[in-house]
Amino acid sequence: MKTIIISSSLSNKSKSFLLCQKVHEELQKKKIESEIIDSRNIELKPCHLPKSVSMLEATSKIKNADNIIIGMGIHNYSISDSLKIILDTCFEDVEGKFFGIVCSAGGEKSYLATMHLNQMCMNQWKMIQLPRIVFATGKDFDKNKIISKDLIKWIELFTSEFIDIGEKLKN
Ligand SMILES: Cc1cc2nc3c(=O)[nH]c(=O)nc-3n(C[C@H](O)[C@H](O)[C@H](O)COP(=O)(O)O)c2cc1C
Repeated sequence: MKTIIISSSLSNKSKSFLLCQKVHEELQKKKIESEIIDSRNIELKPCHLPKSVSMLEATSKIKNADNIIIGMGIHNYSISDSLKIILDTCFEDVEGKFFGIVCSAGGEKSYLATMHLNQMCMNQWKMIQLPRIVFATGKDFDKNKIISKDLIKWIELFTSEFIDIGEKLKN
C-alpha cells in the first residue's frame, strides 16, 4: 500500500503540516510506504495556465498512490485557495481512491467545513473518505510542535484505521 500525504498549506508556520508529519511518522512505524507532498515546494499555478514541472511531478505521485491523505487549514469555513488549485490541477486518475483528512482550524466551530472537501472528492472522483478526521486547533500546538496528548492518540487511531480500511479496499 502506497500513501501520498498532501500538505496543502502554504504557510511557513503551517499547523496542518505538523499533522501531516505526525501521520507520516505513524505510517512509517507501521511499515507503510508513504511520502509527503509539501505544497510550499510546488510552483502552484491556477488551472487555466500551463502546469509547472513541480505540479506535473505532484500529479504523477498522486496518480500512482493507492490512497491519499490531505492536510488542510480551514479558510472562510471551507478549503484554502492552495488546496482548491491542487484539486483542480493535480488530481488526475484518482477515481475511487480512498482518502483521509487531517485539518487545522482557528476554532472548534469550523469542524464541519471539511465536508466541502469531502463533497468535492466524492462528487467529482467518487472517492471514499475515512470517516474519522484529525481536527486540531491552536491550543493543540506550541512552538511548532503538537502538545496535545489526546490529539496524538487520535492521530494514532486515525492512522490505524486508515491502514486497515486502505488495505481492505486495495484487495
Ligand atoms: C484567510 C484565512 C481564513 C481563515 N478562516 C477560518 C475559518 O473560517 N475558520 C477557522 O476555524 N479558522 C480559520 N482560519 C484559521 C486557520 O484555519 C488556521 O490558522 C489553520 O491553522 C490554518 O492551517 P495551516 O496552519 O496549516 O496553514 C483562517 C485563516 C486564514 C489565513
